[in-house]
Amino acid sequence: MTDGVMDIFDFLKKHAEYSENGIVSRDHVAKAGLTMNPNFLSLLLDNKRTRKLFFVEVNDIAIFDKIEFQRFIKSKEFLPNNYTKFQQNIGLTVENNFLSDLNGVTLQWPYKDCVLEGGQMNDKESRNEPFWNKYLNTEEISKLLTRKVLHENHLFSNEDKTMNDLLELEKFNQIIKGNNLLALHSLKRRYENKIDVIYIDPPYYFKEKKGSDTFSYNSNFKLSSWLTFMRDRLEVSRKLLSDDGVIFISTNEDGLYHLKIIAEEIFSEEYPYIANFIWQKRAGGGNDSEAISTNHEFILTFGSANAFQKLPFDETQLKKYNLEDEKIDTHGPYTTKNLHDSSLQDSKGLHFDIECPDGSILRGDEHQWKCNEDTFNERLNDNRIVFKRIQKNNSWSVHYKIYLWENKGKLIYDKNGKLVKKGIVPNSFLDPKKVGRNGDATKELKKLFDGKPVFSYPKPTKLIVHLLQMIENKNALVLDYFAGSGTTGHAVLELNQQDGGNRNFILVEQMEYCKSLTQERIVRCMSQNDYKSSFIYSEMLERSATYILKIQNAQSTKDLMDIFDEFKDTNLVSPVIDYEEVAEQIHSLNIVEIKDFLLEILNQNVAYLSALDIEDETFSIDSDVKSFNKKYYGE
Ligand SMILES: C[S@@+](CC[C@H](N)C(=O)[O-])C[C@H]1O[C@@H](n2cnc3c(N)ncnc32)[C@H](O)[C@@H]1O
Repeated sequence: MTDGVMDIFDFLKKHAEYSENGIVSRDHVAKAGLTMNPNFLSLLLDNKRTRKLFFVEVNDIAIFDKIEFQRFIKSKEFLPNNYTKFQQNIGLTVENNFLSDLNGVTLQWPYKDCVLEGGQMNDKESRNEPFWNKYLNTEEISKLLTRKVLHENHLFSNEDKTMNDLLELEKFNQIIKGNNLLALHSLKRRYENKIDVIYIDPPYYFKEKKGSDTFSYNSNFKLSSWLTFMRDRLEVSRKLLSDDGVIFISTNEDGLYHLKIIAEEIFSEEYPYIANFIWQKRAGGGNDSEAISTNHEFILTFGSANAFQKLPFDETQLKKYNLEDEKIDTHGPYTTKNLHDSSLQDSKGLHFDIECPDGSILRGDEHQWKCNEDTFNERLNDNRIVFKRIQKNNSWSVHYKIYLWENKGKLIYDKNGKLVKKGIVPNSFLDPKKVGRNGDATKELKKLFDGKPVFSYPKPTKLIVHLLQMIENKNALVLDYFAGSGTTGHAVLELNQQDGGNRNFILVEQMEYCKSLTQERIVRCMSQNDYKSSFIYSEMLERSATYILKIQNAQSTKDLMDIFDEFKDTNLVSPVIDYEEVAEQIHSLNIVEIKDFLLEILNQNVAYLSALDIEDETFSIDSDVKSFNKKYYGE
């Protein structure tokens, strides 16, 4: 057997438990080592090479170095053929800590170990997603993920702030145009462990491929590509989240179960699972569904339970708690309830005489009270009983007080001893009247854009407002890196206006509409509602990304040949390309094939200019941009 690193296990060929048809099985080797199978360990000990590789000698005793063994079997050299095992077979494996160091449930899928850029930039075309590890080594991947130069920086402010004023703050509102994976890695520099809330609405995974894609861009991911795509982004998200951070992830049902498991794997140690909200996206319709019309989606939520608060009462509820007494500062306002209640199960203790303020008696044999006499007397002494005159018969009714911040007569404190001012406990079923549906979102966006339909399937602002309201921190820094039409930014501004908070947003959007739609929505939202606010719009400085877009938009072979002529003289093309041969043969391909080919030879690893190269004269970066980047990245 000549199979690279597997050669060292050649001696296991003779052992049926570790081989199949005379070939040593990677799976069996991995499993036996990870479960520290004694027979397997003794074979490793007997072999000089494996003894040296996987054991450390301490006082003449050989100790199995499981971490080294794990590192070894996770190496790319050991793994390649194993991808075939996963290729058709995405699913759950219990106690297989083979790709993950975590115990428990692991989700495996092909190419879990690679980085997927997800570089769709134009909403008309789908793109075959490249797996970077097909042709990038670790060093190149780290280069791919270095922070990028931000340019085209524009300030929008209706509160007399300058760009420098904002840059000097710890946080400010920002919109960034560029690939979201690379933007997230750029944000790490300034905001690692500082983002309080992340809301994302990524492209969904659909089990059944859609001929016409409902999002008008690429939702037709393969499950494995989609999971890799999500995994890469969620991993950086975790690094960005603050200690009390929370992440909300919108998803449909097709992607839910796999997504929940990767998210558990990534977040649960620091940011446990909180809830899976159900959002009713439409009230009816779906008549074209085969059996059942699915009218809801989910919002998977992980984070610190400390971050959540009770929701404020709405106006109807507040009208109910409209009375005040000497306990107002400690117990909040109160409402009253009748103490007489014959609907409860009767018991002797609930019948006793009560003396009214004028000395008249309400007799126990004519009344069934809600509590026994002792409790009544306690309430009376604590000024919790109210007598109300009944005009028509000149009699009395007895009532007891219920304070807003109490639960069953006791004030509620949180873990830190802080009084919980009782509100509504957020519910995992989101009330459509409160949070709106798809239709409401489309309408509100159309209204902002003079009645024109500018975006398919935005989320309603009310939905994001509701999620943000659950978070106690009114100064939260909120990130949405699938910003779309900018709903999250809109929600941040609206909620600040409502409750006097000072939340900030960071929106990332890579599609071309980032300026015309995402930025424009926030501008219109500020001016139409007179929200005093400021934000900076920036773009990640493109290198090969410019050409990716041009290729995607090209309408003819001639357009494509012009683009090829343009970029062939840059260092953005693989050096092994023979231009003359390409120029000759390219005409025999159809337009889709030419696009694929050009994207293939374009070095997408340098989609954007790294901030580390900002001083390089080849790129002639102007001094304003340099100074912005220095301040932004704190260099
Ligand atoms: C439905 S939109 C989000 C809408 C947003 N919540 C709103 O209310 O307007 C989905 C996001 O997925 C992104 N997206 C779609 N296809 C993609 C792909 N192939 N690669 C990367 N991002 C993609 C879009 O850029 C957009 O940010």
